[in-house]
Amino acid sequence: MSFRFRQLEKEHALEILNWRYASPYDCYNFDADTIQEDLHYLLDSKNAFYAILNLQGKLEGYCSFGSDGQVPGGEYSSEALDIGMGIRPDLVGRGRGKQYAQAVVRYGTKQYRAQHLRVTIAEFNKRAQRVWEQLGFEQVEKFVKTGSEEEFVIMACAV
Ligand SMILES: CC(C)(COP(=O)(O)OP(=O)(O)OC[C@H]1O[C@@H](n2cnc3c(N)ncnc32)[C@H](O)[C@@H]1OP(=O)(O)O)[C@@H](O)C(=O)NCCC(=O)NCCS
Repeated sequence: MSFRFRQLEKEHALEILNWRYASPYDCYNFDADTIQEDLHYLLDSKNAFYAILNLQGKLEGYCSFGSDGQVPGGEYSSEALDIGMGIRPDLVGRGRGKQYAQAVVRYGTKQYRAQHLRVTIAEFNKRAQRVWEQLGFEQVEKFVKTGSEEEFVIMACAV
């Protein structure tokens, strides 16, 4: 599968804000009450969100590079490129996660000349962890998000 990456535009962001994942992944749904703030956040270039487009130009997912991918309470003192990723709800769970993640790693590594990569994932989300494990990422930390009881894991990989 081939993809194109483009800085996220407003039309992409509006689509993403309406995406709805089925339980237990509904925690990744954006909240209908905070659409304006979330739109601003997705389009702020500091947060480095990119659209993952198929060759027909249709949005299949998005990714972020940098601090968006960090969760408060995690240990991020070593230098690494943090990656965040979300695939369109109708495309998840079909065994294609590895291909999306591979494309994101390829793009991010080139764009940011990164030598170390890192992802932070909810502990319950074994599906996502499996994808990154398949790409050679290993768990380096498990922690509880500050101000919550939610557990997260950090997985890292040297390029
Ligand atoms: C995380 C995400 C990218 C994974 O992509 P995907 O296409 O849904 O994943 P796949 O269907 O390829 O499944 C990946 C692996 O997890 C396995 N898996 C699926 N459900 C699982 C579960 N409940 N427990 C354990 N493994 C599971 C699959 O069998 C597959 O492993 P395999 O290749 O060894 O068979 C995608 O689901 C997504 O964007 N989800 C919403 C956002 C999110 O979860 N973000 C997390 C941060 S990356």
